[in-house]
Amino acid sequence: MGKAVIIACDFKNKEDTIDFLDKFENEKLFLKIGMELFYSEGPDIVREIKNRGHKIFLDLKLHDIPNTVEKAMRSLSNLDVDMTNVHAAGTKDMMEAGLRGLTKEDGTRPILIAVTQLTSTSEERMKKELLIDKSIEDVVMHYAENAKEAGLNGVVCSPLEVQAVKQKCGKDFITVTPGIRFESKDAGDQVRITTPAKARELGSDYIVVGRPITASENPVEAYKRCVNDFVD
Ligand code: C5P
Repeated sequence: MGKAVIIACDFKNKEDTIDFLDKFENEKLFLKIGMELFYSEGPDIVREIKNRGHKIFLDLKLHDIPNTVEKAMRSLSNLDVDMTNVHAAGTKDMMEAGLRGLTKEDGTRPILIAVTQLTSTSEERMKKELLIDKSIEDVVMHYAENAKEAGLNGVVCSPLEVQAVKQKCGKDFITVTPGIRFESKDAGDQVRITTPAKARELGSDYIVVGRPITASENPVEAYKRCVNDFVD
C-alpha cells in the first residue's frame, strides 16, 4: 500500500479549484473533494478533476438509514472515485449497506473508509454534548472495529490513533489522517494535530492536508514539503 498526501480541496467553486490545480502544472495529485465543493458544483467537478488525471477521495461522510446510504452509494459508484467514506456512527448495518451500494457488478469498488470521531471533536464536547461517556480512544477504537467487521477498508482518524487502530484491526487496515499542521500554533479549529513527519512516524497510510497547503503563499512548495516529510 503506497503512502500518499491527499490535498483537501475545500474551495467554494470550480473556478477557485481549477486556479489552485493549475499551479501544479503536470503533477498528478490525490485530491479530496468534500461537501463544500461537491454541493456547489455537483458530480461534474469530480469528472473534470478525474479527466485531469488526478486521484479522488470523495469525502461526503454519508450518514443516514442503511437503505438511503446504499442507494446514494450506488449513485456515487458511477463516478469511479478512488476513495469515499461514511460515518461509523451510522452503525454496522449502514456501513454494510454503503459497501453493497458502492460495489459494481464486476465486484470492483473504491476504497471505503469510515469516519470515527472528527478530529475537531474534543473528549469534553463528546461527553457533554453527545453524552458519550467513554474516552475518545475507546470510541475511536470501537468504531474502527465496527468498520472492520462491516468489511470496510479503514478509517479516518487522528494520526495519534493510528498505532492503536493498527493493533486492533491489523496493519493492512487503512488509516487516513487529517489534523495535519507544520507548526502547532496553526491549529485553527483542529484539536488533535500532528506534523507530516510525525504522522509518518506513527504509521499513517494517507495524510489529508487542507489549509497548510491551500492557504499557503506557495501551495506547490507546501505540498512538496508534505510529500518530502511524509512519503520520501
Ligand atoms: O484545512 P485542514 O487541513 O484542517 O483540512 C482537513 C480536512 O480534513 C477538511 O477537509 C476536513 O473536513 C477533513 N476532516 C477532518 N477530520 C476528520 C475527517 C475529515 O478534518 N475526522
